[in-house]
Amino acid sequence: MLEIEDLKVHFPIGRDSAVRAVDGISLSLGAGERVGLVGESGSGKSTVGKAALRLLSPTSGRIKIAGVDITKAQGKALRHVRRKAQMIFQDPHSSLNPRMTIFRSVAEPLILHTRIRGRALNGQVAALLERVGLPGQFLHRFPHELSGGQKQRVCIARALALDPTLLVLDEPTSALDVSVQAQILEFLKELHGQRPDMTSLFISHDLAVVRFLCSRVAVMYLGRIVEEGTTEQVFAAPQHPYTRALLSAVPLPQGRQSGNRIRLTGDIPSPANPPSGCPFHPRCPEAIAGVCDVMEPVFEQSGAGTSVRCHLLTRNAA
Ligand SMILES: Nc1ncnc2c1ncn2[C@@H]1O[C@H](COP(=O)(O)OP(=O)(O)OP(=O)(O)O)[C@@H](O)[C@H]1O
Ligand SMILES: [Mg+2]
Repeated sequence: MLEIEDLKVHFPIGRDSAVRAVDGISLSLGAGERVGLVGESGSGKSTVGKAALRLLSPTSGRIKIAGVDITKAQGKALRHVRRKAQMIFQDPHSSLNPRMTIFRSVAEPLILHTRIRGRALNGQVAALLERVGLPGQFLHRFPHELSGGQKQRVCIARALALDPTLLVLDEPTSALDVSVQAQILEFLKELHGQRPDMTSLFISHDLAVVRFLCSRVAVMYLGRIVEEGTTEQVFAAPQHPYTRALLSAVPLPQGRQSGNRIRLTGDIPSPANPPSGCPFHPRCPEAIAGVCDVMEPVFEQSGAGTSVRCHLLTRNAA
């Protein structure tokens, strides 16, 4: 359903340098798959999401949706993609036009892309709102009259209006209160149950959220994927030191022993000037001098079944 091949997105700064926000990522999502993309702030997750739906143009690489190459699509072809592929953003407040009623916001994609009008339109919008758990009285309200969670439900209703086959959800709950987050996550899980054929790319810095919603997970660091595997594999036996560090910061379910807590020191380096060799080496507790700072590791299959980009894998196998 979604194939991302060696995607690079570089943002030029000044005359001859660039922020390498995404620097060679490949990821494929089969129909109905729910894949989580995780990593610290600045690792390039949102940029991947936006490029995947061509909300921004890639520097190089290829993107296919349902087998159609959309890397350079324009005009009608791009509109066709946008109809079936939708993005939900972190901040529901800035995603809604403050001057439009909820009815109008949810009806807009239907008005733009279909001929549904009048009573049929009213019925469809009401049904969409009901589906996300908002009763009819919300139809004529404005965004400022709604809570954050209610606004995010409106954004989800709008994204579902054209019955998308692909959803990119970019931190859809991180701007919400914790109790509301849980409700929205439950709702998203139910939604996947109702629409098992809908493919989703779920972007989050919260591994617990990804574990709850996704069957597969890709871990990003500084514009690259450093580990990828099924949620089970990655949570049971993370191979990359970065994945282990991210996981050790997640509270474990009761009764389980937390292993050695690995603390990530320092900030993620600037993607305008990434470190030599393995981009994680300056922060890696297990970096091998003369190797990790010099050579860039390649993707390899680990014994645990995941794909990992780390020199330790080769060393431990030797
Ligand atoms: N339009 C832009 N121009 C220049 N740099 C950008 C632009 N958009 C993103 N960046 C930079 O690219 C890098 C990746 O940004 P991105 O928003 O994709 O990260 P992220 O993983 O989504 O982070 P967060 O968790 O904070 O949302 C960052 O260093 C960011 O500053
Ligand atoms: Mg982001």
